[in-house]
Amino acid sequence: MEKKTILSGIQATGSLTLGNYLGALNNWVEMQDKYDCYYMIADLHTLTIRNDPETLRENTLKLIALYVAAGLDPDKNTIFIQSHIPAHPALSWVLNCYTYMGELNRMTQFKDKSLKHADNINSGLFTYPVLMAADILAYNADLVPVGDDQKQHLEITRDIAERFNSIYGNTFKIPEVYIGKVGARIMGLQNPTSKMSKSAVDPMDKVLLTDSPDEIRKKFKKAVTDSENCVRYDVTNKPGVSNLMSIYGIIKNKSMEDIEKEFSGQGYGTFKTAVAEAVVERLEPLQKKYNELLENPDKLKAIYEKGDKKAKEKSDKLLKEVYKKIGLVVE
Ligand code: TRP
Repeated sequence: MEKKTILSGIQATGSLTLGNYLGALNNWVEMQDKYDCYYMIADLHTLTIRNDPETLRENTLKLIALYVAAGLDPDKNTIFIQSHIPAHPALSWVLNCYTYMGELNRMTQFKDKSLKHADNINSGLFTYPVLMAADILAYNADLVPVGDDQKQHLEITRDIAERFNSIYGNTFKIPEVYIGKVGARIMGLQNPTSKMSKSAVDPMDKVLLTDSPDEIRKKFKKAVTDSENCVRYDVTNKPGVSNLMSIYGIIKNKSMEDIEKEFSGQGYGTFKTAVAEAVVERLEPLQKKYNELLENPDKLKAIYEKGDKKAKEKSDKLLKEVYKKIGLVVE
């Protein structure tokens, strides 16, 4: 049987956090044998805010290095840069003409981002979900692993695809959200009721994948807990401790009950140290590989060139089919 296709991407802004790693990358690694996987660096999507050009370029290359350092094998996965594939913006334009203003107006991320960047509500921000639809539909992706905050974008992708298919006949596969493991949503260390975000202002709230072992230890030591001093999983009443347990559980592959037993009768001090050491141990080889790759730009280039080529071939085919159906002259 043919393998199902997976597509996902991360925006090339800022440094990735432990949350991005445990909630996304780490799960992607587990899918590389079972599925035909396409992972892109969403650099075009970052243009909705003003970036420093040199920093954006650097972030894009760093993200590729991170994908590979996190365990994505470039021989098994198609790792590519969104802006290198002309079919994305081209298909996005076509799909814009099959998307209603009213639909885009309902996107909660558009509303949130408009508030956050009130001085720069550009039309790219408005049509952001259409480019994302193009990313997904250009590869006939079956499954799209994304976090909760992106589910609405996947809904609109499905709506656009169904609308197009109903006019022109079956063209696009209708993609589904790939739900990762339970507990993969990592929360902030200072603010454990909201997601650990790479844009968090408080540096103590997030663990960056590039943090040194001592920074990581310090951040876990200061992580917010509660006064019960008992390692028990209870997200509502003990969000901080539960979050630390999730982190430990994913890395050590242990259930919440196992962790409760392991630390029963022990205080938070011991527990936090154990979590920090687990994270340090997991990130050390990743950082080593990451730094090696960054020192070897030719190797990095070879990785994305290989991915670009495969991504281009696949998406060009679909774009041509779309052009033909809507009446453009295709040679
Ligand atoms: N919008 C996604 C985010 O901010 C990134 C993204 C762009 C994406 N294109 C995609 C994710 C296609 C999945 C599929 O996280």
